[in-house]
Amino acid sequence: MTATPRDASATIVPLGRNLGAELRGVDLTRGITPPVIAAIKRAFWANPVLVLRNQRDLGPEQLIEFGNAFGYIAPHSILQYRHPKYEQLSYVTNVKPDGSLDEYGYAKRATDWHADGVFKAKPDCMTFLYSIAAPSVGGHTEFTNMYLAYETLPEDLRRRADGLACFHKRGKGWRCTAPPPPLTEAQKATGEFEGNVHPLVITHPESGRRSLYISAAHTSYIVGLERKESDALLDRLYGHAIQPEFQYHHKWQVGDLLMWDQRCTMHRAGGGAPRDEKRIMMRGMIVAELDAKRAAA
Ligand code: SIN
Repeated sequence: MTATPRDASATIVPLGRNLGAELRGVDLTRGITPPVIAAIKRAFWANPVLVLRNQRDLGPEQLIEFGNAFGYIAPHSILQYRHPKYEQLSYVTNVKPDGSLDEYGYAKRATDWHADGVFKAKPDCMTFLYSIAAPSVGGHTEFTNMYLAYETLPEDLRRRADGLACFHKRGKGWRCTAPPPPLTEAQKATGEFEGNVHPLVITHPESGRRSLYISAAHTSYIVGLERKESDALLDRLYGHAIQPEFQYHHKWQVGDLLMWDQRCTMHRAGGGAPRDEKRIMMRGMIVAELDAKRAAA
């Protein structure tokens, strides 16, 4: 799964067998210019988990400029992790503001396989994480390839999945083991978290490829099936989707800027970092449609 960017100085190096790639030769600290963004987008359409390494000392404003180049950056629903000044960015961290260990951030956050925002009426398209502090061992983010998950299903199962839809609700997945912190009354009152139905198989608007669209953390049930049947079918699809061969586990280095496509992957926090080592990242989540055709123009 590789692509050659037209910018001769940028090259793509695959990281995993079926997912994960590094784009080399791009230095965002020298400017987030249209040609640079175009090269990144071209690489990203073919490599839905893409990392730019050694992007040292990028500040919130540069990260927002980067995210804006892809679409609207939606503020995260967990208020306590939002950046105090820039609501488009949130922290993925195991450290509290007073420096003590954040138990939720350390052990419970995002440990179930999911795609971001599947429960929204307009789900997230892409998320990026920028590493500020990385543990010496563990703390990987794990990804799995949902294109392959769909494409390698037995034909009868693929056909069946094609015609189905799922109801998704934040933290109410059929296999959710670590629900996110509760919403505030004000967030509940917006009605945005009541849950939404999306097809079980979606077609990626840029690649035209089809992928399974489920999330252990947020997919509650398959519409129209008895609960037992729904759970059994979701389990079967999920077991197929998370087979090791489809996965890529990213080991973080400080300065990594990693982006992934929510429409054809699932991810989770792998855990296993030492309790006394910091793991801090800044995150942006893009909701509006990404537009490859514009990038290629
Ligand atoms: C996430 O789910 O947004 C991040 C996963 C991680 O902490 O590795």
